Amino acid sequence: MKTSYDLVVIGGGPGGYEAAIRGAQLGFSVACIEKRVHKGEPALGGTCLNVGCIPSKALLDSSHRYEAAKHEMAEHGITTGDVSIDVAKMLERKDNIVKGLTAGVAGLLKGNGVDWLQGTGTLLDGKGAEKKVKFAALTGEESEITAKYVILAAGSVPIEIPVAKTDGEYIVDSTGALEFSEAPKRLGVIGAGVIGLELGSVWRRLGSQVVVYEAMPEFLAAADKDISKEAAKLLKKQGLDIRVNTKVTNAEVVNGEVVVTTDVNGETKTEVFDRLIVCVGRRAYSEQLLAEGCGITLTERGLVDVDEQCKTNLDGVYAIGDLVRGPMLAHKAMEEGMMAVERIHGEKAQVNYDTIISVIYTHPEIAWVGLTEEQAKAQGYEVKTGSFNLAANGRALAQGEGVGLIKVVADEKTDRLLGMHAVGVGAGDIVHQGMIALEFVSSIEDLQLMTFAHPTVSEAVHEAALAADGRAIHA
Ligand code: FAD
Ligand code: NAI
Repeated sequence: MKTSYDLVVIGGGPGGYEAAIRGAQLGFSVACIEKRVHKGEPALGGTCLNVGCIPSKALLDSSHRYEAAKHEMAEHGITTGDVSIDVAKMLERKDNIVKGLTAGVAGLLKGNGVDWLQGTGTLLDGKGAEKKVKFAALTGEESEITAKYVILAAGSVPIEIPVAKTDGEYIVDSTGALEFSEAPKRLGVIGAGVIGLELGSVWRRLGSQVVVYEAMPEFLAAADKDISKEAAKLLKKQGLDIRVNTKVTNAEVVNGEVVVTTDVNGETKTEVFDRLIVCVGRRAYSEQLLAEGCGITLTERGLVDVDEQCKTNLDGVYAIGDLVRGPMLAHKAMEEGMMAVERIHGEKAQVNYDTIISVIYTHPEIAWVGLTEEQAKAQGYEVKTGSFNLAANGRALAQGEGVGLIKVVADEKTDRLLGMHAVGVGAGDIVHQGMIALEFVSSIEDLQLMTFAHPTVSEAVHEAALAADGRAIHA
């Protein structure tokens, strides 16, 4: 086994494997250490491919098709007969997609000449010019590897709360919620964040009665208020019972049921569920990653401390993705991985943290980029906004998707676009127009002067920009 590399990447999630590939493309000798074993097989791809982005989207898609087949075909004149769901088959499809993608990543590493070291990597000493990393192989052997550069990409794990300890069967985290063998009749969810809304939607569509408890008084506090209000209305109409301002004070399994105790403004209530999902956020995963005395500084919250370019306090050691500040998103991890390697290579790569898109893959999707109206005002901008309702968009209506809205936020003084927000069909794709416009410092007038194809949902972006100056045609 080779024991000396130009670059060692610890963690083979989206941040780590992209960094490893880019490093090899730039001519470095690269090892990527990944310890994950998924369903009995060593696996690359991290949280995202194995138990995150991909399997959750596979289930979102299957459950959406099921619901559409059951309830939305008749108005098109399509007769379906009895529609039923084979959950085992649905899970098998998800697993096959995951398997294909993780095998694909292994192929990419191999094709680029990256050595995938299957096991645990621990930074022993990152202070000198020659970094030392311990490698504990899945087979049990241990060795020491040296590298000129190290990228820490160990990702994150779910936050556990003492009032609702997971047991892997009745009370589960997001990973367990991807594996229910049937739709629980009554499903409780702690946390109305991204996972709560996505996985809550999956199981609701498949027949669960879903209650989502949210400790904060406000629903989706990070989103623009107009968007979170509309999203709450649509999700509640679908049957998600979202209870804000509700603190779970205890959850325990009694006779095969989960008894949940909540506190709402001092009033105690209990409710019983068949399963409970705990999804109250994730934390950086640095156990086994950093040996005592390796020299790395952590923040108070346990994140690896890095600057804007993902450089740690040690020369030649970078950290990226969920392990460091910023949103815990796969696309952010990937871009940071590329930036870190290109910086090591002497280039001036940069991530624009102001244009990172957020998407919640409910149906319809909820997505945004840039500043919300509230953030723009708080930053001292004189704000103008324009919104357009998809109820007046021909394509959305033709698709039976005439709900939701698109909103633009701009600086009244300069006309510059500051943010784009959407809840509606394809919102996650729509706001990429906002991302590109923000990158190019576009004005509202730019969006008004462009010709959007008819009939597309994107026309609502045009109309929202026109609405910012009181000129929307179809409003
Ligand atoms: P990870 O993907 O967590 O990868 C880190 C890897 O490092 C892990 O595989 C781990 O085994 C390995 N590792 C850790 N320590 C060591 C060590 N010491 N030695 C060797 N290996 C080690 N994000 C999106 O952008 N879009 C989505 O739709 C989305 N959906 C999600 C759905 C769910 C249910 C969850 C849980 C997350 C979702 N995310 C989504 C978040 C996304 O998965 C993460 O932001 C992303 O995976 C972070 O990438 P990363 O490379 O930093 O870390
Ligand atoms: P989250 O941070 O999105 O939401 C957690 C929610 O739980 C918050 O609203 C919080 O107020 C609430 N909460 C915290 N403690 C609570 C308690 N004790 N009782 C009730 N509510 C409580 O975290 P989540 O959903 O666990 O997801 C973790 C991360 O994974 C996300 O922040 C995101 O970065 C990533 N992710 C991204 C996805 C996407 O991009 N589509 C999909 C899924 C996850």
